[in-house]
Amino acid sequence: VPSPVPGSRADSISAFSSPPFSRNSFTSPASGWIFNRTLSSIIRKKVLRFLDAERDISILKSTFKPGDIIHYVFDRQSTTNISENLYRLLPTVSPMKNQHYERCAIVGNSGILLNSSCGPEIDSHDFVIRCNLAPVEEYAEDVGLRSSLVTMNPSVVQRAFQDLSSKEWRQRFVRRLQALSGSVLWIPAFMAKSGEDRVEWAVHLILSHTVSVHAAFPSLRLLHAVRGYWLTNNIQIKRPTTGLLMYTMATRFCEEIHLYGFWPFPRDSEGKPVKYHYYDTLKYQYTSSSSPHTMPLEFRTLSTLHRQGALRLHTETCR
Ligand code: CTP
Repeated sequence: VPSPVPGSRADSISAFSSPPFSRNSFTSPASGWIFNRTLSSIIRKKVLRFLDAERDISILKSTFKPGDIIHYVFDRQSTTNISENLYRLLPTVSPMKNQHYERCAIVGNSGILLNSSCGPEIDSHDFVIRCNLAPVEEYAEDVGLRSSLVTMNPSVVQRAFQDLSSKEWRQRFVRRLQALSGSVLWIPAFMAKSGEDRVEWAVHLILSHTVSVHAAFPSLRLLHAVRGYWLTNNIQIKRPTTGLLMYTMATRFCEEIHLYGFWPFPRDSEGKPVKYHYYDTLKYQYTSSSSPHTMPLEFRTLSTLHRQGALRLHTETCR
């Protein structure tokens, strides 16, 4: 069985700065992707040595009480208290308890999804993970509509909902959450102090409207555990992206994992511009050393896993 990730350190630290293969190479009949169930199960077991997504996906009511002090993951010297409101939203049992799915889709937010027609294919999976409350309705043909789990970095409140500064933005935010009815809303609330107010506003709006999401707040150890897993496989990532966090966690509860919208490059294989996000005009310095992420290296790692059949990275259109 091949090693799940590139073996040598030299191999792993030389991140791609441009697309390493053709947009169609994964689906051409010649390349024929085949799921490697054995490798996928080996990876699941290895990841389990670092984290258990069933547990680490959220802290629980039983482990905290209102007023408890939490040290932020990125700025350890800064603290917050578990508010009454946040406590009310904590789950009593893991939202992923005993959940297992045969086919999962993880949808990244790259503009590579535009004109892909991948919506119906994405929606056909048993469990669909989306990142950072990315809009779906206007892009349904390319990205689909279903969401089983959606992440929400506190920065999204500022970036996509104008810091909830007017009634109209608050309504938009609430409507977006209401559309997620029944899904898990995963909020990394304790990463940085800068997100404190945004988390509280979001929590307040969830509690004061009819929003039937299952809120989840990742354990304080999750990020380090995920980073630790990849580091021991010689993948020198700085801070794992939401997309990589989701893949690493999904190995616990999904058999076949399909990734869409992962393309951290400004151009496609034909040299045509690709937007950073499919839905906004945000620009991103993919290879800048000041970026908190090492997305091209993550992508390279995921494409190695794709070639080995451990996951499937869809970078082609679905037509
Ligand atoms: N992604 C990608 N290529 C892009 C944009 C995003 O591969 N051009 C993947 C990344 O794994 C990213 C995920 O899709 O984490 C979700 O995208 P986004 O919401 O943009 O994540 P960011 O907010 O930029 O980063 P973070 O991981 O910190 O949430």
